[in-house]
Amino acid sequence: MVLTLVFSALAAAIVYFLGNTYRKLLRNVALAKSSGLPVVVMPWNAFSIFWLSTFFLWTPLLRKFLPASYQGLWVDLLDPEWGHRIGHLPYKKLGKDVFLLASPTIIHCFVADAEAMTQITTRRTDFPKPLQMYRALDIYGKNLVSTEGADWRMHRKLAAPSFGEKNNELVFTESLHHAKSLIGLWTGVDGRGNQTVVEPSSGAMNFALYVISSAGFDVRVVWPHEEGLPAAERKSEGKSMFVGSEVPPGHQMNYRQALSELLHNIMLTLIIPPRFLSKSPIVAHREVAKALGEWGQYMDELYELKKTQVASGDAKGGMDLFEALIRGSGILDEKTINLQKSDLLGNAFVLMLAGHETTANTLHFSLIYLAMHSASQRRLQEDIEGNTEGKPVEAWTYDEHFPKFFGSMTAAVMNETLRLMQPVVNIPKSTAPGRPQQITLDGEHYTIPGGCHIFLNCAIHRNPRYWPAPSDALEAEKDEDVNRFRPERWLTKTKISDDFIDISYDDEELRGPSGEDTSSQLFKPVKGSYIPFSDGFRSCIGRRFAQVEILAVLAVIFSQYSVELAVDDLASDEEVERMPKGGEERRKLYQQACDRAEYYLKAKASSIITLQLRGVTIPIRFVRKGEERFSFV
Ligand code: HEM
Ligand SMILES: *[C@@H]1O[C@H](CO)[C@@H](O)[C@H](O)[C@H]1NC(C)=O
Ligand SMILES: *[C@@H]1O[C@H](CO)[C@@H](O)[C@H](O)[C@H]1NC(C)=O
Repeated sequence: MVLTLVFSALAAAIVYFLGNTYRKLLRNVALAKSSGLPVVVMPWNAFSIFWLSTFFLWTPLLRKFLPASYQGLWVDLLDPEWGHRIGHLPYKKLGKDVFLLASPTIIHCFVADAEAMTQITTRRTDFPKPLQMYRALDIYGKNLVSTEGADWRMHRKLAAPSFGEKNNELVFTESLHHAKSLIGLWTGVDGRGNQTVVEPSSGAMNFALYVISSAGFDVRVVWPHEEGLPAAERKSEGKSMFVGSEVPPGHQMNYRQALSELLHNIMLTLIIPPRFLSKSPIVAHREVAKALGEWGQYMDELYELKKTQVASGDAKGGMDLFEALIRGSGILDEKTINLQKSDLLGNAFVLMLAGHETTANTLHFSLIYLAMHSASQRRLQEDIEGNTEGKPVEAWTYDEHFPKFFGSMTAAVMNETLRLMQPVVNIPKSTAPGRPQQITLDGEHYTIPGGCHIFLNCAIHRNPRYWPAPSDALEAEKDEDVNRFRPERWLTKTKISDDFIDISYDDEELRGPSGEDTSSQLFKPVKGSYIPFSDGFRSCIGRRFAQVEILAVLAVIFSQYSVELAVDDLASDEEVERMPKGGEERRKLYQQACDRAEYYLKAKASSIITLQLRGVTIPIRFVRKGEERFSFV
């Protein structure tokens, strides 16, 4: 009797819940349809934390067991990374480059149209960032990534002056320095190379961490493989902090450990608040909590040190970002009421976070792509040789050489890598609840409902409307061209558009160095169609920083070395040796490795914050220029 009652109550609750959900879905679908844009109906929110963390379990089951008549585009769109995986296809099917996903709890809007992109990124107050998605970034304090409106203005104004030419120059020299260490790690003591680098992403990650440490915070990190070498010690001169394996007094972790532990587990702090993490029975959790405290303590020490330096006029003049932040904050004059120490530490942290994974991935994927495309690699090497006139790395300068790299194949490689492997696959924007917004596409008006989450989608980089195939391409290959790594597309002389209008900030101090910076030698995409750094007011303030860093490291590597995919699991070195150079057998072997790499890049890359290979690696080898085993030009 009691049992029946419980069951019927439960059944009633379920029926009520389903009915309610269904009603909400119908309402959202109707609302979405009133926009005039295509609508895909989703039975649940594909961007809830639950779905994001478990979708890979359910989607294969759905594909397998759901009757074919129920399958459709919506199943493809259940993968939050579909923009990377299937690119422009859904837009093509729906016949519009903007569409809506309606679920019972939320409406999402996906954008792969340049016109819409520009409207959204330039109408800052109409399309604010959905701040709840950025909470994880606030652990040390509020900052310029996680704020909106007046708060954001204050933070942006505080940070913008740090990213000046002085800092760029520092980024250049620090990148050259760490690039030499990186290449030393990858090619061995004798510098011959020809050894397999199983996990290139980890070297790239360290490189990026150490560059942002020194150019951002004046901390010189010694690479583990160079520790104890006198040359490494000497290079510490003049830095505020010099760190290696040793754990300084008062600390429990060395700087390197604290930083990488923290940055690589930052999302955990979203799921489990730090104060619980430290009490978790799981060791790994407690380690993250420890790293959190440790890095905070390092920053604190640096902050105090810099503050005294700046106050006593001892500092070198704001070359690194952190010093410029402290100087600009006016915190020393005690006259600013709005700013607190936590604002400085909050910004310090996001600069570290924003500046490391993104650039590390760009370097990593550039190397993989170049290994897969030896003709492009040869052209890159020729360009670098021309740019540097064969001078050694020590003789390169920011003023003379950076502009040369910026207008040549080195920049084309960076641009093309970011086109295909954009670190932030979906850049979040929103409309405020109750505030629908109009947009215009090809002269027609549409209304994005209020309370909508918008994603500026990486698929715009594969929209054939903006990325034309070369005119001499075979008809059958034209469609595939957008998916191919072809850095040469950036070197064309024919501009398809001249309407690059840079946005005007109402206050120029907010700009930072990220304004118009097209190189006259390179292809100029349609405004709004190329968005690796986002666009408009909230575009990446570290764009120039990243460009300087990536161009410098690519130039160092390819001035001396070539990169190839490692084929160890397909053929031994002896077997390769026996295959005639340039022969069909060698070519086939390498093609196998390339096909697999291509598949991994597409299927095994996913985002936690940025797009990375997960669960697999693509091993590579560096060999001296001229000693390639696989070069097919
Ligand atoms: C290839 C490298 C990089 C890429 C692809 C990249 C991409 C982006 C993107 C897409 C955004 C907008 C994010 C959003 O709206 O949620 C952004 C913002 C930002 N990035 Fe980068 N970034 C890179 C490197 C860097 C570096 C090196 C730094 C700092 C040293 C940096 C600092 C920032 C900051 C502070 C913001 C927030 C700006 C604001 O909202 O006003 N980024 N970046
Ligand atoms: C890449 O392309 C863009 C065009 O939008 C250009 O502004 C930029 O300078 C290029 N180079 C690099 C290294 O990002
Ligand atoms: C690379 O190493 C393998 C195995 O040690 C050797 O057989 C081969 O000759 C080397 N190639 C070059 C170019 O040094």
